[in-house]
Amino acid sequence: MRLNATMRIAILVACGALTGATAMTAGAAATGKEKASFDRGRYVARIAGCNDCHTPGYAQSGGKVPEKDWLVGDRLGWKGPWGTTYPVNLRQYMSGVSEADWIKVARTKEMRPPMPWFALRAMSTDDLRALYRFVRHLGPAGEPAPAYLPPGTNPTGPYVTFP
Ligand code: HEC
Repeated sequence: MRLNATMRIAILVACGALTGATAMTAGAAATGKEKASFDRGRYVARIAGCNDCHTPGYAQSGGKVPEKDWLVGDRLGWKGPWGTTYPVNLRQYMSGVSEADWIKVARTKEMRPPMPWFALRAMSTDDLRALYRFVRHLGPAGEPAPAYLPPGTNPTGPYVTFP
């Protein structure tokens, strides 16, 4: 069959509409996927207990801290035979590290107590990525946590003592 000009235009318009529709669907899917990743990261942060130490007041208030204030690190020290450690500001930490480096750190670094580095090792790579993307999505915020103090040095701020 020979197509006249009007039919050709009609076909081109229809193809254009189809292509447009496909592009729109792909765009929506990417956004949905991203959202699923943030939701997963939020879920992991919550159930893995990262907020318990890295978010001020979280454990004490039964988790009643708005998400925008999550994971900014804490001035509450943890004192034991290892010295005094402070939960780092993960909002700043994640913004300063690439995703690949984060996976490497989570897989290899032994951290001082009471940081459960072994929990990071037990996480799937997908969960570690989702957590990273969620924290990056929250963006950098807050102040750096106080610096680590070696054994024998008394903290000036509040701290919890391990026997
Ligand atoms: C029981 C308290 C506690 C919990 C729960 C906890 N952390 Fe920590 N975290 C700490 C402390 C304290 C430090 C600082 C350790 C140090 O100074 O060596 C730390 C350090 C870190 C660091 C810095 C590591 C480095 O490179 O020096 C990262 C990253 C981190 N935590 C991530 C997490 C994540 C992710 C979770 C949830 C899975 C989590 N933490 C749960 C207490 C905790």
